[in-house]
Amino acid sequence: MKISSAEFVMSNSDVAKCPKDRLAEYAFIGRSNVGKSSLINMLTNRKSLAKTSGRPGKTQLINHFIINKSWFLVDLPGYGYARVSKSSKKVFQKFITAYFSKRTQLVSAFVLVDCRHEPQKIDLEFMQWLGEHQIPFSIIFTKADKLTKTKLPIQIDEYIKEMLKYWEEMPNYFITSSSSGLGKDEILSYISEINTQ
Ligand code: GTP
Ligand code: MG
Repeated sequence: MKISSAEFVMSNSDVAKCPKDRLAEYAFIGRSNVGKSSLINMLTNRKSLAKTSGRPGKTQLINHFIINKSWFLVDLPGYGYARVSKSSKKVFQKFITAYFSKRTQLVSAFVLVDCRHEPQKIDLEFMQWLGEHQIPFSIIFTKADKLTKTKLPIQIDEYIKEMLKYWEEMPNYFITSSSSGLGKDEILSYISEINTQ
């Protein structure tokens, strides 16, 4: 799929105030700093459509971006170790949960995990929660450029092995690098495939 336009629509912390349009949307979620906002920029070929930072906790609201004037990409705050106060973490948690449970336009979530790490409790719990709420999701391994060509498949295999202790089958997954563009075509083809269903 070719992305011909990508525009910021709105940011807010209240799911009830998100765009009313009944357009399909896809949301990016995962630990703070995993690369959610960078991936949105990579997929849309834009340097700073979504704001990124080396400091965890950059994205603090639900951000809607309209793509090709017909569907939304949604950037969310991270969960986990964001350098923000405990009380704002609680607020994030509340509206992230509200977003996923109430946003019926959501076609699929993408749960981002750093390809260098073994499965983290918080990610597994979040995926479990999505499963229990019957919210479709794929896993995106990020920062593939940080591992060597030899180490990358070994690390992914280990992750899958660990996942299979909790899941009957491995959810659909993608391997990406926002620096090299790895995984871009696969994710966009996947979205275009499920968009027409
Ligand atoms: P929060 O909004 O804080 O939850 O973080 P985020 O998940 O949106 O992460 P963000 O995109 O802001 O990226 C965090 C840091 O990781 C930044 O310094 C990015 O440059 C870096 N980063 C993101 N993706 C990649 C990648 O694929 N490769 C490399 N090498 N660095 C990346
Ligand atoms: Mg972000």
